[in-house]
Amino acid sequence: MAKRSPHAPVTKRKPHRKPLFGLFVVLVLLVLVFAIVYHGRKISYFFRPIWDTPPPPFTHIPHFYAHELPMDHHCRLHGWNLLPSPRRVFDAILFSNELDLLEIRYRELAPYIYKFVILESNVTFTSIAKPLYFIDNFARFEFASSKIFYGTFLSQTDSKSGKDPFQLEAKQRVALNSLLHRSGIAPGDVVIMADADEIPSPETIKLLQWCDGMPPMMHLELRHYMYSFEFPVDYSSWRATAHLFNQGTRYRHSRQTNLILADAGWHCSFCFRTIEEFVFKMKAYSHAERVRQSSFLEHSRIQKIICRGEDLFDMLPEEFSFREMIRKMGPIPKSASAVHLPSYVLANAEKFKFLLPGGCSRSK
Ligand SMILES: *[C@@H]1O[C@H](CO)[C@@H](O)[C@H](O)[C@H]1NC(C)=O
Repeated sequence: MAKRSPHAPVTKRKPHRKPLFGLFVVLVLLVLVFAIVYHGRKISYFFRPIWDTPPPPFTHIPHFYAHELPMDHHCRLHGWNLLPSPRRVFDAILFSNELDLLEIRYRELAPYIYKFVILESNVTFTSIAKPLYFIDNFARFEFASSKIFYGTFLSQTDSKSGKDPFQLEAKQRVALNSLLHRSGIAPGDVVIMADADEIPSPETIKLLQWCDGMPPMMHLELRHYMYSFEFPVDYSSWRATAHLFNQGTRYRHSRQTNLILADAGWHCSFCFRTIEEFVFKMKAYSHAERVRQSSFLEHSRIQKIICRGEDLFDMLPEEFSFREMIRKMGPIPKSASAVHLPSYVLANAEKFKFLLPGGCSRSK
């Protein structure tokens, strides 16, 4: 046992200083008022865990994959059986302006997809007129032309009507549903429902093609990246789904079941080659109201944010618990890994430099 030294130093307590304390309270209040005035939105997001309830949790279907194993082994690892012949897989997406990711998607998946169903509109979700980028750049997708089933959503409304972007988005998804039903799909086929930047991995598609016993509907858990594969965020992307098609199947992009297949591909948000494309997307997508100041669209600001892994809209992480939110605050840490990415990206690493570690500077 350690004995207490009789000469241990005694720390003297300072006497309470009331006036200083008062000043401190006033300062705190001032900072609070300032924060509420300038960051009201941020504060409301900070308290999200209080005002919003999280969606019910998913039940994860474990996903097994090793590249040298045969298909029947992969099926059996999932408790499923090898089919005598593969199912046809349809890929149904809504396209806006993600040209590079669309090329990567189609190059990566073409060997396994029976038909690429793609819908494009001449207006954004925010009712801004837009070129038909897919048609204008069709040369890039020519290689898959025999598999592409393309449709347009031509909006009659003019841009001044101030429509709810979520309503216009919903209308475009209904149009995609009818396009899908005209694509030649039949009961027993598989359909992937996703956005252009939500890319299932080839091994996920092969599992859907070849294994009997998969659930009739499941979400696909995708690795979420921001700006490029240099900034992995987490595994939070869940909106993409895989369905065994029947006549009742409807194209949707929302929560449909509790089942989700783990680690099923990549979701690269705002993964654009040029700053102009960032600006377009920021103005075009359903959350365009997040552009609260015109300075948010300045090219130099956007470039700086991309390289730092910060938030384009200066927002807090959208989380349902304080622990998760605090864990995710601040910039996304850079990753130096380019392992297990779509192989077309690495096969054309020079062309897709902006998606790889060290490539954050966008071309002018
Ligand atoms: C979209 O195309 C339709 C049909 O060609 C046209 O009537 C409409 O004005 C276009 N919308 C915009 C915003 O250009």
